Amino acid sequence: MKKMILLLALMLSTSIASFAIEGMWIPSLIDMFYSDMKTYGLKLKPQDIYSTNKSSLKDAIVQFNGGCTAEIVSDQGLLLTNHHCGMGAIRQHSSVEKDYLKNGFWAKNKEEELACTWMRVTFVKEIRDVTKEVFEGITDETSDSERRQIMAKNMKALQEKASTSESIQAKVKPFNMGNQYYMLITEDFNDIRLVGAPPSAIGKFGGDTDNWVWPRHTGDFAVFRIYANKDNKSAKHSEDNKPFKPAHYLPISMKKKKKGDFTMVYGFPGHTDQHYSSDKLKFYIEEERPARIKMRQTALDIISPAMNESDEIRLKYASKQASIANAWKKWIGQIGGLKELRAIDKKLKWEKEYTDKANSKPEWKEKYGKVIADLNATQAEYQQYEFARAMYIEYLYSSGLEAISYAYGFYDLALRYDGLVQDNKVEETAKKALGKAKGFFKDYDKGIDHKIFKAITPILIKKLPAELLPENFAANWEALGEKIFTSSVLLDAEKLEKLLTDFDEAKSKQLSEDPAIKMVQQMYSHYFGKINPKARAQSKKETELMKTFVEGILTMFPKRKTWADANSTLRIAYGKIDGSTPRDGMQYLHYTTIDGIMQKYDPNNPDFQLTDRFLELYKKGDFGDYTQNGKLWVCFTASNHTTGGNSGSPVIDAKGRLMGINFDRSWESTMSDFMFDESRCRNIVVDIRYVLWVIDKYGDAKHLVDEMTLAK
Ligand code: ARG
Ligand code: GLU
Repeated sequence: MKKMILLLALMLSTSIASFAIEGMWIPSLIDMFYSDMKTYGLKLKPQDIYSTNKSSLKDAIVQFNGGCTAEIVSDQGLLLTNHHCGMGAIRQHSSVEKDYLKNGFWAKNKEEELACTWMRVTFVKEIRDVTKEVFEGITDETSDSERRQIMAKNMKALQEKASTSESIQAKVKPFNMGNQYYMLITEDFNDIRLVGAPPSAIGKFGGDTDNWVWPRHTGDFAVFRIYANKDNKSAKHSEDNKPFKPAHYLPISMKKKKKGDFTMVYGFPGHTDQHYSSDKLKFYIEEERPARIKMRQTALDIISPAMNESDEIRLKYASKQASIANAWKKWIGQIGGLKELRAIDKKLKWEKEYTDKANSKPEWKEKYGKVIADLNATQAEYQQYEFARAMYIEYLYSSGLEAISYAYGFYDLALRYDGLVQDNKVEETAKKALGKAKGFFKDYDKGIDHKIFKAITPILIKKLPAELLPENFAANWEALGEKIFTSSVLLDAEKLEKLLTDFDEAKSKQLSEDPAIKMVQQMYSHYFGKINPKARAQSKKETELMKTFVEGILTMFPKRKTWADANSTLRIAYGKIDGSTPRDGMQYLHYTTIDGIMQKYDPNNPDFQLTDRFLELYKKGDFGDYTQNGKLWVCFTASNHTTGGNSGSPVIDAKGRLMGINFDRSWESTMSDFMFDESRCRNIVVDIRYVLWVIDKYGDAKHLVDEMTLAK
């Protein structure tokens, strides 16, 4: 009988486990989703997760330098995040002699920890619903422009009142497309130090080949520490500062893991677009993303081989290439996933349901009956400008071409004496520009840039109608490019330094004749004259319509589980450890082990290198207390709804302990930014026991493990 009950319980638990849970929930609204989390196995109380009058999990979680997430794991402010989130800091402290990217870095004691003075981490002290206050003074009669003014004034007053010091700041943000407003009261800490990082052969093992892909074997973590002044308060970097004593830190879960275990991802997801109308989504799938992918693909085909041929180029282009490739690969996955999901059909069905519901009641009909038609009409009206805007941004900023956006930085010096800018800081501006140019040249290769220019400009021309391009651009670009890359002063470090020293009217004139500046003039004035105003008008219309659309969901479908799109604020996603069956005939396990690293190891492939030390340790087989049934787990997957910005987020178990660090999603789930699918959406996590093994055995930094609280 007992066995039967056990079997039944097991069956029940796996049947729940095969569904991922959509939504990134606002922690202060925990009462809304707490009972559901409990059904998935959570053992904590609501106030253990979010509280403003006692310490709770949220006090151990920070936004890391404005983008990723990190978590505190000791009473001395020790922080864990991803290697790819800390990469900038690791690179900044590296040189050819001390190549921490290549070899890793481990501070033997606190004196050896490396200050990252440009960095900050942000705690959330409180999330407060201020919707009523923001809308105060607005009636049905208030005009649009008045409404915007009143709201801006209300928000400003709220923020000013709650921003009580330089480090404690309040910001009011729209949620649910402006149907709700929340104020985030946050506290920044600025003395952040690098404590440890594995070599890229661990922290970026698998490289771009494995990026966004399961099965995964990346030890994507890095270790930092927060410092505070003697009163444990936020302070600028100083030798006198002490390790920060947090209100809460996460104990480490050393427990064996199994499929179905509760998981909670607590962090700062950046951006999602669940409410796109069917026509907009179609535009993204069929036109916008493919064009951007094409441009990036073309640039990567130039950059990547060059990096493999030369160490110098590899170091110069490592970060640039990673960022071009990361979104490029994600977008390909998203389009594939949305097509497989038949996302457009699903949207159309939902839009029909929405409009039918609206038409069932006169007052709803008036408010919401036309909103979808209006959204689609707006899309049709402005689509070509939205497309052009995306292409200009891709061309000028995101697909690897650097010369033109760099030259834009000199535009105000070139037009200085034409009355564009009227201040008397010419010398200062020239000096600043020179400083920036020096930084630029450090990681620049003119030959590669010219190749990119020649390869991606034809794509821009082919994709855009002539009237959305500068006049005669299609006929002139090649000659202009030749001039830019052979004779522009801006791309010649020596000549540029001469030009910017003792800058005067004659030099300004010379600069304004420079071919790169000529191109800037054409491109940017065309963009700001013809495209940007339309893009802004579209955005204004859409913002209004989207607010109404979501208001309609909240009003007409009160039982529907609605969640506010991610907006870089603190959120909770819950789920379970689970594998997946993304396609017929395929089944992914929910974990990988160190044996898989050895299987992938390929000394001839830059993405799959291992260090001698790693190979030795593997051979020795000393995995300490970090194994499960004799195996050292490396990564695992869970069914949490996550997105960019969730990198570095703690994955927390039912009792509030750290199970691993979130760092990616499987390729089949990347479409969850637009449409979630419970059967295949999986986030990818580096197992905390692998992290500890690397710190302890590989980094020989056991003192860091000893600082943490390990819980069985
Ligand atoms: N896909 C991860 C996220 O979106 C980034 C992983 C970084 N690694 C890489 N090979 N680019 O940011
Ligand atoms: N790697 C992503 C990040 O940097 C997380 C992956 C995702 O988009 O889910 O935030």
